[in-house]
Amino acid sequence: MKRVAILISGGGSNMVRLVEDMQAQGYAAPVLVASNDAAAAGLEKAARMGVPTAAIDHRPFGKDRVAFEAELLKPILAAEPDVLCLAGFMRVLTPGFVEQFAGRMLNIHPSLLPKYPGLHTHQRALDAGDAEAGCTVHEVTPVLDDGPILGQARVPVEPGDTAETLAARVLVMEHRLYPAVLRRYVAGDRTPVLL
Ligand code: GRF
Repeated sequence: MKRVAILISGGGSNMVRLVEDMQAQGYAAPVLVASNDAAAAGLEKAARMGVPTAAIDHRPFGKDRVAFEAELLKPILAAEPDVLCLAGFMRVLTPGFVEQFAGRMLNIHPSLLPKYPGLHTHQRALDAGDAEAGCTVHEVTPVLDDGPILGQARVPVEPGDTAETLAARVLVMEHRLYPAVLRRYVAGDRTPVLL
């Protein structure tokens, strides 16, 4: 049974979908949910689902990302994951950290990459007058939001959309896309999931 650890920073709705899918389908075991914020609401949700949790506050480390990651690595390595999923994890990881999980770390990003890497993706799609938006699951590489694409889901941009209404429509698809990609990924299948 493949072991999966998940990193979150906030509410963890994608994490919940991944854990539910793994527990329901039995294709992998969620072995850890860790956060850079002890107040992240997702930690309590994970604990209620029976998944071990850990919180490593990044703030005491200031700009020293390597020192923060050295602490974050302790619960991760202790959990011995085969795959690491970033799910609303809002810290940029150093190349050194990424290389340790090369070819076995995934991220979900709320845009149709390579369009709009980084933040404020929905507002940028609206400002550009795009007819559609969406989300992407990709393998993580040292370049932010850039790795091989493993899945994408598209939604229409509706008249009168705000960044919030568009984000809500995209989040529904995130919750479908990420588990579908993870299921294939742990089976060694890199064929992109297109929704
Ligand atoms: C999601 O839209 C995800 O794509 C982005 O952050 C949001 C986190 O949502 N990176 P949640 O914490 O999974 O609910």
